[in-house]
Amino acid sequence: MHRSLLALGSLVLPLVFACADGDGHHHEKRAAATTSARIAAPTAPLVWGDVNFIHTTDSHGWLLGHQKPSAPEPNYSGDLGTFASFVTAMKEEAILRNVDLLLIDSGDLHDGNGLTDGYPAGGVDAHDANKFVAQLPYDVMAIGNHELYIYANTLDMYQNFVPKLNGRYLSSNVNITVFDSHGKPVSVPVGERFVKFKTRLGRKVTSLGVLYNFSGNDVNTTVQHVADMVKEQWFAEAIAEEPDFFLLVGHMPVQKDNWPVVFNAVRAVHPTTPIYIFGGHTHIRDCVQLDGRSMSLESGRYLETVGWMSAKLDKKNPKANITFTRRYLDPNKVTYAYHTGLSGFLADTPLGLEVTAGLQAIAKKYDLTLQYGTAPQDYYLSRAPFPSNQSILSLLADQVLPIGLAVNNSRTNIPNIMITNSGSLRFDLFQGPFTKNDQLISSPFTDSFLYIPNVPLSTAIQVLPGLNKAGASDKRDLETEHELYARGEVSARFDNWRRDQWERRASAPQNLTLGYVTQDACPGVGDDTPHSPLPFFGSPDYIASPTPNLNSSALIDLVFVDFIESDVLSILSKIPGATYNSSSVLSYTPTLASEVFGVFAQQAWN
Ligand SMILES: *[C@@H]1O[C@H](CO)[C@@H](O)[C@H](O)[C@H]1NC(C)=O
Ligand SMILES: *[C@@H]1O[C@H](CO)[C@@H](O)[C@H](O)[C@H]1NC(C)=O
Ligand SMILES: *[C@@H]1O[C@H](CO)[C@@H](O)[C@H](O)[C@H]1NC(C)=O
Ligand SMILES: *[C@@H]1O[C@H](CO)[C@@H](O)[C@H](O)[C@H]1NC(C)=O
Ligand SMILES: *[C@@H]1O[C@H](CO)[C@@H](O)[C@H](O)[C@H]1NC(C)=O
Ligand SMILES: *[C@@H]1O[C@H](CO)[C@@H](O)[C@H](O)[C@H]1NC(C)=O
Ligand SMILES: *[C@@H]1O[C@H](CO)[C@@H](O)[C@H](O)[C@H]1NC(C)=O
Ligand SMILES: *[C@@H]1O[C@H](CO)[C@@H](O)[C@H](O)[C@H]1NC(C)=O
Ligand SMILES: *[C@@H]1O[C@H](CO)[C@@H](O)[C@H](O)[C@H]1NC(C)=O
Ligand SMILES: *[C@@H]1O[C@H](CO)[C@@H](O)[C@H](O)[C@H]1NC(C)=O
Ligand SMILES: [Zn+2]
Ligand SMILES: [Zn+2]
Repeated sequence: MHRSLLALGSLVLPLVFACADGDGHHHEKRAAATTSARIAAPTAPLVWGDVNFIHTTDSHGWLLGHQKPSAPEPNYSGDLGTFASFVTAMKEEAILRNVDLLLIDSGDLHDGNGLTDGYPAGGVDAHDANKFVAQLPYDVMAIGNHELYIYANTLDMYQNFVPKLNGRYLSSNVNITVFDSHGKPVSVPVGERFVKFKTRLGRKVTSLGVLYNFSGNDVNTTVQHVADMVKEQWFAEAIAEEPDFFLLVGHMPVQKDNWPVVFNAVRAVHPTTPIYIFGGHTHIRDCVQLDGRSMSLESGRYLETVGWMSAKLDKKNPKANITFTRRYLDPNKVTYAYHTGLSGFLADTPLGLEVTAGLQAIAKKYDLTLQYGTAPQDYYLSRAPFPSNQSILSLLADQVLPIGLAVNNSRTNIPNIMITNSGSLRFDLFQGPFTKNDQLISSPFTDSFLYIPNVPLSTAIQVLPGLNKAGASDKRDLETEHELYARGEVSARFDNWRRDQWERRASAPQNLTLGYVTQDACPGVGDDTPHSPLPFFGSPDYIASPTPNLNSSALIDLVFVDFIESDVLSILSKIPGATYNSSSVLSYTPTLASEVFGVFAQQAWN
């Protein structure tokens, strides 16, 4: 579908001719290609330097791109195959310009989309999709926390993915425990701890792949804290020799985390060597310079962003500040065509076509287009207030749980209150066919539903406020935020980023299409295509189905998602007269949170 989106608007396409004289100057000629339709498009050609980078991170399985017609999804419609064609074209341009261009990824290949998560029974998450990721000419990739929640996924990376990367898959502070040839368990790095290599133009590179202090990893995987890693003997040895530049790739946000620890350790030995940092994990677009000869870039999530960094070196004054640029590209064919600059048309390469076809075959094998019903409208995670008719949280609480959990349930006729947490939802749900893929994208977690029978309504109605109040206490907030962050939770950081964009909307032009509006700590404009911010509204941690209109002493079923059982019991224990313990808790239905939207859609959206 998205492949036919090649309608070009009134674009000015850069035609670039590089001089072969190697002095780094370029003549740019512009040709106007005009058609009638007006379309959101990049506003300026990329600025190339001597060393250039294309960066992806946190793709989480969105390898066929965003496929829904609702705004702004078409802006992210480029799939991994189209991206591969773009990379090939850019590599050719780098040769013409006589500069280096490297392709980098900062991890989180697992969890987020049916292409990775919709595998049939007996499969392993991302095993099939990663075969196509490995076909792209990545120079360096780093491990993410989502590679470590389930040992089988890490083992699959170790056994099947890492060997394909020819020593360029880095896990400086992450190990896996496997059996050695004598059947003895040994802890070994998942990929390489570091790699030294030369660029096409012969520049010497020393590269590391660092994971932030992650604590949610599975048994038989090990994450060493960043501060401990830089004290290791191997680290000192790896950075001792001076390369032409350090390439620090890692699944760690470029601000408010531990990059300075790694940066300072390198700087202590090499005060002026260029350091290029590519981070990830908080799913935002972000950039900062730790000094005048370094830049740190983070390139969003879900193939909604392709990052660009260029570094122009001052050859006459080799210790001077480096002239950097960075850009956040919306991955779609218009963007790619604009920047490959040949004829305003991005030619599919054999590799690109093979990657797209291979991913489509996975979607077919996994039956991802299996349709449960048709969503009548868009439902948003944070673009609409809660409660409201546009909120997916309202949809879940008011319709999906009451209707979906009632299917094949002998307790259907007993009044109830159903409670779940808003964190069980991961993505917007868009108008149109609602498929297995959409279920996995929006509500992926395999949580079950429990209940306590015969709870007086007057007692049951106190549970939701109790849960949300516990969630709001300042003390809990600090401790829990820290703990949740260590375990991999990034929605707080991502939501703050989105809220900030929405709060600054008054200063943004009103006539642009919706999208990210990035304000980072690097000079110049970052977003390749200017946008108006998406609305942002906060939501409570916990939500509940409507309260039955009954006498307060009426006895109802108190239904809740399994992992809040102890919180629910703890709140009930503080209510006078309520005597419940874990023996009071029963299974409500075999339907899981990762199925309930589909069950609902079959009932209500057909
Ligand atoms: C980006 O999305 C907007 C809707 O928000 C649409 O008008 C525009 O055509 C899209 N651009 C591309 C290149 O798909
Ligand atoms: C972890 O590895 C050890 C062997 O090294 C094995 O005995 C144990 O079962 C593993 N634990 C899990 C949960 O896989
Ligand atoms: C990781 O593996 C290496 C190589 O086996 C070992 O020397 C090191 O102690 C391990 N690190 C951790 C934190 O387990
Ligand atoms: C990571 O762990 C170290 C202790 O090893 C601690 O000092 C540091 O603050 C932690 N970093 C973050 C961002 O929590
Ligand atoms: C070099 O960059 C640093 C950090 O960005 C800045 O403080 C300094 O003023 C710059 N020096 C020059 C000569 O521009
Ligand atoms: C929201 O949906 C409810 C139930 O379908 C309906 O009664 C109400 O009018 C809707 N509100 C708006 C503002 O559309
Ligand atoms: C409900 O029961 C019917 C008949 O046994 C079955 O076909 C259907 O899959 C069940 N649905 C759910 C959600 O359990
Ligand atoms: C938005 O309006 C500004 C002037 O207010 C104009 O310069 C710009 O071209 C407009 N952009 C679009 C995409 O229409
Ligand atoms: C609630 O029901 C009880 C018992 O059925 C009855 O005694 C009481 O008056 C009712 N209260 C209200 C407010 O209807
Ligand atoms: C729950 O309480 C009942 C009595 O109220 C008791 O018989 C039972 O053993 C308790 N169960 C647990 C798991 O504590
Ligand atoms: Zn991620
Ligand atoms: Zn992550």
